[in-house]
Amino acid sequence: MKSSPQSPVPLKADSIVYGADYNPEQWPEGTVERDIELMKAAGVNLVTVGVFSWALLEPEPGRYEFGWLRDVMDKMYEAGIGVDLATGTASPPPWLGSLYPETLPINVHGEHLSWGSRQQYNPSSQLFRDKVAALVKAMAAAFGDHPGLKMWHVSNEYGCHIDESFDHESVERFRAWLGERYGSLDALNQAWGTAFWSQRMTSWDQVLPPVVTPTIPNQHQQVDWRIFWSENILDLFLIEKEALRTANPDIPITTNFMDLWDSLDYWRWAEHMDVISNDSYPDPANPRAAREYALHCDLMRSFGGGRPFIQMEQTPSAVQWRRRNPVKRPGQYGLWSMQAVARGANGIMNFQWRQSLAGAETFHGAMVPHGGTETRTWREVTQLGEALSAIEPPEEGAAQADVVLLWDWESAWNQQYACGPVDERVPENELRAWHASLFERHQVVDFAHPESDLTSYRVIIVPALFRLTPAAVARLLEAVAGGASVIVTYQTGYVGPDGHAIEGGYLGNLASLLGVRVQGLYPVSVEPTVLGFGEDLDHDVDHISSSIHTPAASNDVVLRAVDGASFSGKGADWGEVLAVDPDAGVEVIAEFAADDLAGLPVVTVRRGSGAGEAWYVATRLDSAGRAAVLDQVLGVAPAVPRGVDITERGQYIFLLNHGDHEAIVEGDHHVAPRSCRVLLAEG
Ligand code: GLA
Ligand code: GLA
Repeated sequence: MKSSPQSPVPLKADSIVYGADYNPEQWPEGTVERDIELMKAAGVNLVTVGVFSWALLEPEPGRYEFGWLRDVMDKMYEAGIGVDLATGTASPPPWLGSLYPETLPINVHGEHLSWGSRQQYNPSSQLFRDKVAALVKAMAAAFGDHPGLKMWHVSNEYGCHIDESFDHESVERFRAWLGERYGSLDALNQAWGTAFWSQRMTSWDQVLPPVVTPTIPNQHQQVDWRIFWSENILDLFLIEKEALRTANPDIPITTNFMDLWDSLDYWRWAEHMDVISNDSYPDPANPRAAREYALHCDLMRSFGGGRPFIQMEQTPSAVQWRRRNPVKRPGQYGLWSMQAVARGANGIMNFQWRQSLAGAETFHGAMVPHGGTETRTWREVTQLGEALSAIEPPEEGAAQADVVLLWDWESAWNQQYACGPVDERVPENELRAWHASLFERHQVVDFAHPESDLTSYRVIIVPALFRLTPAAVARLLEAVAGGASVIVTYQTGYVGPDGHAIEGGYLGNLASLLGVRVQGLYPVSVEPTVLGFGEDLDHDVDHISSSIHTPAASNDVVLRAVDGASFSGKGADWGEVLAVDPDAGVEVIAEFAADDLAGLPVVTVRRGSGAGEAWYVATRLDSAGRAAVLDQVLGVAPAVPRGVDITERGQYIFLLNHGDHEAIVEGDHHVAPRSCRVLLAEG
């Protein structure tokens, strides 16, 4: 397993942790005792307490009431159930916003967002930061040495509802941050390209957040706003972390991530986590949910540099926030949980323990549902507890990954905020597509930041890395020189480190490695702009227009293998005009077969540019096309019964049958539909 730039403390536990968010404040006295009995029956050994308890912990300014929490912690301890103690700062009490309106966030339209829901805080407010620090210090002093305390859970899902605020303090912090980043207003003007549209700023008070403008806003400003916010919210986390660390350096600290969350650069955040933890709610109505869950797990393991993580939240049954909320099918709760363990989780937690009777999440599933213990949910909850108790948590997150996918939030933001060439999240979609292909062929995959050490991977996939930095190019050159194969896909290297377009052919300095440059773009699957009635063209009467062919509006990009090469598959959405360096020894594998790009290369490989290979793919390949490329780079995928994923981790082999039929794996291992069998690697 590769080490990424961060080095969190490994998660130490002698068994897989199992449990949920536990909100005893929602329940009458006596419930805790009953809950503890049920927790023991379910094999629960860790509960996250206090996530939304600020209003109870500090009922009025400066008066802390911790007695109820101590009572819960004592009882859990006596029962042998550990506590992941949340700091309660994710939902400030109404008195805070009422007394101090500056602690409330302001949206882009200048409106205060009020209490009555949750996360109504302005991360930049100094007063908010002070109140948070005071509460957390008091909690750390009160509970830092409690024998039942296993972990600190800072706040909750940072950035989920509030990832920006347009208040005065935020603007001041943004300006100070820009001042440090660029050194001078001249440099900022240069970076934001303000020579365009007469945007040149002549004093710092003209520097604004991306407020409402008459038309297309400045994308460099928007990207900086996003980077700033990821760091600004991280500062808020670090205030809490420092207070907790000072009180007891031995207790690991986490905050729960949310998969590939759009607005936080988790690579930067991960460096500060002792334990990586994640919340994941794939849609059971989607057959791609298992691969989505796998992606989340691979990502979390990678954030921790290969160390185990905690699946901090999921639901045993259904969520309540989709339009219709499908229930996990029989077995799926246990199966997906085991999938997480197979991919590096040493903890399986849920939102939440007992299903609420009131409030926004009344109809969100829980380990103890409204229906009580005579339910399928409860049966599956206890079955999983038993299955997890049989697993000794391996120290490493997963078997050695051969393949790595590169992901960079700054690059994605540059693509997202650029006006054109296409208004879609291409990097994220492309990343998911390649991960899906690797999942389907049973390949263990890591993720890495493009500027991290890549030398220990056999295959590096670079999906639509829109913004290319010299450091990333150097890493790729180094890896290929060491024997790796790299697959770079379309929409890579359109802009450089500052987000300004690359001249002389996209791909910039990566062109020397690949032997190709991108000279032009060719979007397809375009919905044409139709003015007037969109009536069909009639061959007999529309004498001119019916004879005009518009390949941009067709959905497929037809491809063909070049003589002697093996390739099948289609393209979609995008094409690029590639210029091949005639001296680079580039082999064209497939070419466009029709329309304006007919005969131009689309899949190329350059072998012998180092010890490894450098592939380029100039369209969005469909799954068959991706499989064809991966077959050549990785060899043919192992034959495994349909529906089954086999993952090795530590001493275990997990046979995960996602399919609807019993599978027989390697001769004699019968795996029921939607279930997991765990084998010992030796046996
Ligand atoms: C209008 C404006 C130009 C430019 C183009 C882009 O015509 O006048 O400045 O923005 O749109 O299509
Ligand atoms: C998030 C939150 C939880 C809960 C769940 C519901 O993960 O952290 O508090 O709201 O969503 O799915």
